[in-house]
Amino acid sequence: MRAYFDNAATTRLDPEVLEAMLPLMTEEFGNPSSIHSHGRKVRTAIERARKTVATLLNTSPAEIFFTSGGTEADNTAIRSSIETYGLTHAITSPLEHHAVLHTLEHLHKQGAVKLNLVEVDAEGRINLAHLEELLRAHPNTLVSLMHGNNEIGNLLDLETVGRLCQEHKAVFHSDTVQTMGHYRHDLQQLPVDFIVGAAHKFHGPKGVGFLYVNTHTKSGRGPIHPFIHGGSQERNMRGGTENVYGIVGLAKALEIAYAEMESHRQYIESLKSRMIGQLRERLDGVSFNGLSASLSESLYTVLNVGLPSSEMSDMLLFNLDIAGISASGGSACTSGSNLGSHVLSALPHNDAERGAIRFSFSKYNTVEEVDYAVDTLVELFKREQAVVK
Ligand SMILES: Cc1ncc(COP(=O)(O)O)c(C=O)c1O
Repeated sequence: MRAYFDNAATTRLDPEVLEAMLPLMTEEFGNPSSIHSHGRKVRTAIERARKTVATLLNTSPAEIFFTSGGTEADNTAIRSSIETYGLTHAITSPLEHHAVLHTLEHLHKQGAVKLNLVEVDAEGRINLAHLEELLRAHPNTLVSLMHGNNEIGNLLDLETVGRLCQEHKAVFHSDTVQTMGHYRHDLQQLPVDFIVGAAHKFHGPKGVGFLYVNTHTKSGRGPIHPFIHGGSQERNMRGGTENVYGIVGLAKALEIAYAEMESHRQYIESLKSRMIGQLRERLDGVSFNGLSASLSESLYTVLNVGLPSSEMSDMLLFNLDIAGISASGGSACTSGSNLGSHVLSALPHNDAERGAIRFSFSKYNTVEEVDYAVDTLVELFKREQAVVK
């Protein structure tokens, strides 16, 4: 059996999405900036895709900008908001994806902003009192905090953090790459300035994503300068000929994700619960990192399994792969090393020697795959333990 449990890294393309993309790879090949009919036809497809995304997120197409993925959308939100709005401070957490963390660290090093990290507890919860303290001390700030953590699954209450940012007149960007297509984002209600999406995390194609820029609310600060300069594509916000089939695929994937969201959520959550229950029962001393074992406080797609040592988790991961199971590593960084997980290392009281394996689920996983993964993991674990003894 081959089983794919690395859906937080990327997901399988939905066949219906491929079908929607194919015409734009074949007969509809015009450049959307061309004014002849070949171009106009493709331009119409892009604008239809933008309308679909905007409607699903309950906002206006004028606030949706297509990008090359989550990383570019995060970079645009962060770099362009700091530059356009003249922000002088940034607050983020040590648990962010590198698309956010490295961008802000770079800007901090360049002297573009002062940077503060909000405290997190042993399970990776954001300390909201500390966030408020930082907001009070640092006006003119960008807050960048992710909605769903890609490694430990922790969910952030965007409503609460957004209101706090509004109270302190801070700009709020949330990296929503892991929740887009898996949770509903109602942008008429949600107090955010920027959120993002990457199609390959919800059964769309790789290399395409989008950025939402709040320009419709009173608290929104309005349009930002482009991050990628060039032609007038994306209403002067992002130069470069559009990834047309990617954009059409993204919209189709989001449409399917929204139509199937409740049933898929229930189904995927049942797979995750099954794995948690079986591992608790059969693996002595198993733990779960972050809040990933809490169904209400974590992504239903992510389970981060804690193991006694990082060597053991590396070995297990290798042997799981040989047994046909694709999961992902995540041992904590030992000091001085660039390897390992900066997320696990940033959790206070984290034992740097412990290991971790992340299982992440999708609608294509089955109960049989979960049972096979658990059986294999338990068997390999016992074998490893015997070697250690
Ligand atoms: C939370 C988060 N942010 C950003 C990204 C980057 O997205 P992309 O690979 O589309 O650039 C990822 C993907 O791994 C992610 O999980």
